[in-house]
Amino acid sequence: MRISVLNGPNLNLLGQREPELYGSKTLAEIESLVREEAKRLGAKISWFQTNHEGELVEAIQNLPRRADGAVLNGAAFTHTSLAIRDALLAVKVPFVEVHLSNIFAREERRRHSLFADLAVGVVTGFGAHGYVMGLQALHAALRGD
Ligand code: DQA
Repeated sequence: MRISVLNGPNLNLLGQREPELYGSKTLAEIESLVREEAKRLGAKISWFQTNHEGELVEAIQNLPRRADGAVLNGAAFTHTSLAIRDALLAVKVPFVEVHLSNIFAREERRRHSLFADLAVGVVTGFGAHGYVMGLQALHAALRGD
């Protein structure tokens, strides 16, 4: 099983960026955790981060050729990007939406996701562990468990 993990803007700054909200792990450390769990599950991971909306659109457009499913932390684009929503609608590749922080416990404008109703499910508020949970849940869903 091939799983693509897609990360949106400012997630390259994890570790130094608002650690009280997002934790102290860097994105590379989160990637290691996810790869470790993927190995245990027998899944193959591709990992991607971008600060550019169009690059995330293109990564989603490429999903059907590259992955059976995706774990997506769209970061701020979650709350703003119709273009990314349209790409997800176009490819119809199953995905789990992940957020480090609990977006429902934050400012009003972060409480709405433009992707969540298209997702298999959403994991929000569990920090870095949420990526591992998202991978596990997606893996089970794709296997039909
Ligand atoms: C985030 C939540 C978003 O609201 C925010 O813009 C991010 C990170 C999270 O993982 O908690 O950049 O997606």
